[in-house]
Amino acid sequence: MSVMEMSHRSKVFDDIIKTAEAKLRSVMGIPENYKVLFLQGGATQQFAMIPMNFMQGGTADYVVTGTWSKKAYQEAQKFGEPKEAGNGLDRDEAYIPRQDELTLNPDADYVHICENNTIAGTKWDYTPDTNGVPLINDMSSCILSEPVDVSKYAMIYAGAQKNMAPAGLTVAIIRDDFLKEVPASVPTMLNYNIQVKGESMHNTPPCWPIYVLMEVLTWIEGKGGLEAMKKLNEEKAAVLYDYLAESTLFKTQVDLKSKSLMNVCFNTGDAELDAAFAKEAADKGMPNLKGHRSVGGLRASIYNAFPIEGVEALVEFMREFEAKHAK
Ligand SMILES: Cc1ncc(COP(=O)(O)O)c(C=O)c1O
Repeated sequence: MSVMEMSHRSKVFDDIIKTAEAKLRSVMGIPENYKVLFLQGGATQQFAMIPMNFMQGGTADYVVTGTWSKKAYQEAQKFGEPKEAGNGLDRDEAYIPRQDELTLNPDADYVHICENNTIAGTKWDYTPDTNGVPLINDMSSCILSEPVDVSKYAMIYAGAQKNMAPAGLTVAIIRDDFLKEVPASVPTMLNYNIQVKGESMHNTPPCWPIYVLMEVLTWIEGKGGLEAMKKLNEEKAAVLYDYLAESTLFKTQVDLKSKSLMNVCFNTGDAELDAAFAKEAADKGMPNLKGHRSVGGLRASIYNAFPIEGVEALVEFMREFEAKHAK
């Protein structure tokens, strides 16, 4: 019987979910005073659950550094009056605002950031000082790619589908003292306390992705943990960024101080040439290089599982393309 058909209340599945949680705690170094929840609804559902559960004073600070943090900010507006505490999209180059560019409200219920901006190609290169206001981090596209000091955050969350498991699982890691009683009107499945009480099994959890997460964590352990993942990811990203630094055709539109290791964004400055590149690359067996439709350009997403050989093959093709098209 496979994990997809067995009862989630069975002893076998109980071992799987407990092992997955124990491995996640060990690999990420999650302190004991944090709950780990296995939820559904994607990271997008967290955009609503967070203000429903935690914006009880009516306001929170959102740093808008990409499409996803903007969506989180917009969703929070349904539940109160969140404020934009900073922006990383208002210049030609995508960037991460410095501490002194943030306008933080000491009375905010929390500060929300998105650590790795999947579409813009930036990543926070520092942890903002929120002066004691709880910090929430959307780590959907960088979780498990490098070590993280969980204790800096009141909450971390991530959709599983980049570095953890297939879509269908969302992981939330919440510090005990941040959990609050919520109004009875909050729907059952959107209430973190109910999910904590039910140990992620108030209803049927996403059993298959949880099983895969357990296996992925075993793979990461075998590689040497998150320090080793970081080293691998830095090596992979350097192949691309080093080439971009010397290329006369391709450039990146990202402030390199805060460049993403997972999503490398670049372009030729000519939308037609970008499209031709994406098509030729796809014909050569390298699909999915078109930038997100909202920003255009090109993007190589090189998550944990993507091999360095793939990045090298891409750069080799970029060199050939450059030789043909550089002026
Ligand atoms: C950083 C980030 N946050 C949120 C989301 C939305 O995730 P989901 O599709 O699981 O709702 C994504 C999706 O790519 C993402 O990259």
